[in-house]
Amino acid sequence: MTFLQAPLGVRSYVSSLIAFISLIAFSLIVCSISLLLSKDNAVLPPQAEVPPISSVPPTVELDRSRGGDDGSCDVSSGRWVYDNSTRPLYSGLGCSFMHDEVACEKYGRSDLRYQHWRWQPHGCDLPRFDAKRLLEKLRGKRMVYVGDSLNRNQWVSMVCMVESFVPPGLKTQTYHGSLMSFKVEEYNATIDFYWSPLLVESNCDDPVIHRVSDRIMRANAIEKHAKHWADADILVFNSYLWWKKPNMKMKVLHGSFEENSTNLEVVEMDYGFKLAMRAWSRWLESHISTDKIQIFFVSLSPTHVWGEDWGKPNCYGETEPIHKEGYFGQGSDYGMMRTAESIIDGLRYRGINVQILNITQLSEYRKDGHPSIYRKQWIPLTEEQLANPSSYADCTHWCLPGVPDVWNEILYSYIVSR
Ligand SMILES: *[C@@H]1O[C@H](CO)[C@@H](O)[C@H](O)[C@H]1NC(C)=O
Ligand SMILES: *[C@@H]1O[C@H](CO)[C@@H](O)[C@H](O)[C@H]1NC(C)=O
Ligand SMILES: *[C@@H]1O[C@H](CO)[C@@H](O)[C@H](O)[C@H]1NC(C)=O
Ligand SMILES: *[C@@H]1O[C@H](CO)[C@@H](O)[C@H](O)[C@H]1NC(C)=O
Repeated sequence: MTFLQAPLGVRSYVSSLIAFISLIAFSLIVCSISLLLSKDNAVLPPQAEVPPISSVPPTVELDRSRGGDDGSCDVSSGRWVYDNSTRPLYSGLGCSFMHDEVACEKYGRSDLRYQHWRWQPHGCDLPRFDAKRLLEKLRGKRMVYVGDSLNRNQWVSMVCMVESFVPPGLKTQTYHGSLMSFKVEEYNATIDFYWSPLLVESNCDDPVIHRVSDRIMRANAIEKHAKHWADADILVFNSYLWWKKPNMKMKVLHGSFEENSTNLEVVEMDYGFKLAMRAWSRWLESHISTDKIQIFFVSLSPTHVWGEDWGKPNCYGETEPIHKEGYFGQGSDYGMMRTAESIIDGLRYRGINVQILNITQLSEYRKDGHPSIYRKQWIPLTEEQLANPSSYADCTHWCLPGVPDVWNEILYSYIVSR
């Protein structure tokens, strides 16, 4: 069992400039790869889309006393309520498995209002989070979060939500390459995170060194990753941010990285996303044969990298949520979410149920919820940056305790309702 430092996290793409400098060495490798690029720019033949079918209502366990006549309740629609008596759900400074990239209080954030907001759906109440009840559900089971640093953000949140209920010595966290594992001995319950930002195999798969300037994916290769989570009882996927790099195309590799294939095809990022989602859905279709396995897909996590809407450069210095109902900003690509939804509808049509955790709208309101400059800065900051803090603010990830705790409360409501 190894206890290691938290690996370098992915930084938001705002701060990618900083990282860029440090990775010139890495770019040299990338450059040599690009020299080998083929000129074949033809796009892959489109696949027939499965006609979308209407969504089934979510089976969330809720206090429905205030719900609609049919007992349904859309937990994604609601408002943030300031509640300093029941929030936060745990102490950020007290969580022994906190990650420095989201430990805002530890890194100097002094306005703590961001920790005190509770999500209140319009038509019902979310069930109160009870770690013991969740652990009972997870007894002898394995839950795995699979995806990028936002998914890891959510995993750290879940670990903190659970760990404060477990005495020291009865819980462990171990890191093995792309896999981070949290285990509660008494329950033989495992809550893991597996790094795989594009879901399929890519040149971004190294859990530490993945800030490549040229992204290369293998359109149909997911097996190498899937073998790390194929035995899970609960799977929580995400993938979004890595397809959103402005002015960047995706390179699709035909052949394998190991055989040094140079057969590359350049596609638009959102087409790459579609290819990856299809590979993912094909894997689920051919490997998931029982509805005992619960599968979730987390909708996109919005960034607050552009602050025109509140008259600032970005999220830096924001201490209050946006209260305008229905607000959505420039950090969200709803087209991509529709791609994910149509693929998930297609799966449902073929008997595989993937529940979307619809966290986009509720997170849109929380321009105050990001680490901004209050996180471990992995690379020493320059004078220029220090003079202009908004230039290195992380407006992509989320402070903990904070917004991802609510994502997990919604996840919890689905898990305990089974
Ligand atoms: C997610 O929630 C928002 C806000 O309630 C809603 O507009 C959107 O249709 C939902 N998406 C899905 C896939 O349920
Ligand atoms: C909690 O919030 C209320 C209302 O904003 C305020 O009056 C009270 O002093 C706060 N309590 C603590 C302990 O911060
Ligand atoms: C512990 O849980 C794992 C699943 O994570 C399961 O495969 C294993 O059989 C369990 N062990 C015991 C002793 O129950
Ligand atoms: C691919 O390249 C690496 C590094 O240059 C080399 O060690 C390896 O043998 C090559 N593999 C094949 C199959 O040519």
